[in-house]
Amino acid sequence: MNDIGLIGLGVMGRNLVLNIEDNGYSVSVFNHTSSKTQDFVNNEGKGHNFSGFCDIEDFVNSLERPRKIILMIKPGEPVDSVIGQLLPYIEEGDLIMDCGNTHFPDTTRRMDELKENGILYLGVGVSGGESGALNGPSIMPGGSREAYGLVEDMLVKIAANTEDGRCCSYVGDGAAGHFVKMIHNGIEYGMMQAISEAYDIMRKVLKLSSEEIAKEFEMWNEGELSSYLMEISYKIMNFKDDETNKPIVDVILDKAGQKGTGKWTAQVALDLGIPAPSLSTAVESREISFFKEDRRNLSNMISKYDIEAFSDRENLLKELENALLFTNFMLFSQGIWVISEASKVYNFNIDISEVLRIWKGGCIIRAEMLDFFREILAEDNENINLLNNEKSLTFLMGKVNSIKYISNIAMDYYVPTFAFHTALDYFYSMVEENLPANLIQAQRDFFGAHTYNRIDKEGVFHTCWE
Ligand code: 6PG
Repeated sequence: MNDIGLIGLGVMGRNLVLNIEDNGYSVSVFNHTSSKTQDFVNNEGKGHNFSGFCDIEDFVNSLERPRKIILMIKPGEPVDSVIGQLLPYIEEGDLIMDCGNTHFPDTTRRMDELKENGILYLGVGVSGGESGALNGPSIMPGGSREAYGLVEDMLVKIAANTEDGRCCSYVGDGAAGHFVKMIHNGIEYGMMQAISEAYDIMRKVLKLSSEEIAKEFEMWNEGELSSYLMEISYKIMNFKDDETNKPIVDVILDKAGQKGTGKWTAQVALDLGIPAPSLSTAVESREISFFKEDRRNLSNMISKYDIEAFSDRENLLKELENALLFTNFMLFSQGIWVISEASKVYNFNIDISEVLRIWKGGCIIRAEMLDFFREILAEDNENINLLNNEKSLTFLMGKVNSIKYISNIAMDYYVPTFAFHTALDYFYSMVEENLPANLIQAQRDFFGAHTYNRIDKEGVFHTCWE
């Protein structure tokens, strides 16, 4: 009998089971295409504690009770289909864990459906790509405590390790794990967007070569901006294309793909009524990138005035580093605010500081700044967007002139900077007592008698405008 089963031997699934087995567990594996199972057991898995199965009933029967089955498959219909195939053979008390990037409402639905059969279910966010899966991902499990209790030891053992402990912790009730992973990805989109904008300014305003940009990114990665995404970005900038020997970024088409998690983040933020402009524009910017033909045609139809390479290079690079730090703060502020609200609305009961702790290692958004955010929350756990804190405001006000400076230069040079602008606008709006929403209220009342409140007395008012 094996300790655990895994369905789905794609890249993530294979690496995850190798990690699990390496930590002393025996694993049954099953894949929709049987040849993949054979191939895995006879190659990467050879000489290790794996048993491959081509029949799902045999797979289920090979597992120690209560059975623990990991699904590492494409989110959506395939998950329902596999659960349907498992149901005739699993029994009350068995556990299914969906470790893919499933949209959280699907997880809620499946949990409810399976509860009727007494099947335990966990929605588990797993971040770190293939190397994380193999060497230690960040793991965000959500569901019942009882379900988590069955696999806690194993998940903690296989997770990334940091000075603050293993990057796995019970995230919360229901679909909390998949929710938090979705927001992780929303922040991931924003951080990638912001770094890309910094790159764009360096190449278009300062006319730096990829090697020069790599050097700057590498230096930044040694300071406050230290993060996984910064690290891979300098490595990417240094990477040469085999065929042309050009920097590989110069031969990659500028159309960014997406699988949906960033879009869901933006949608959920809108549904919850929580502002997350930097997370949304990161998605929209990818969408715009997709319209390559239109962009090419339009760019040929206008003449952008040509500006000489910017001369004050050292200063601009310093300001750019600060602008990125400011933007990263705003990305986490918005992401954490959405999690805080969702935790209340959906009764997830999420401990945000603990989420930040398990994002410190293994995951794509791991970054030095997480310690700062945890310090802020340690002072006030109810600080839903990290802003209402003296240290936060001192940090941000120390960088605000840099991001203003960078935004202005970017506009002069026709460089789109969604991340920088939205970060600044979000901050300006949040620290502004008087927004022009009074005029919006008046307009609404003018054309639709939607009524408004007054600043000087209680009540709901309507004006006969004409
Ligand atoms: C992770 C990543 C991972 C995946 C993204 C890519 O945390 O390991 O987020 O889940 O790489 O989903 O998303 P896009 O294809 O939408 O950019």
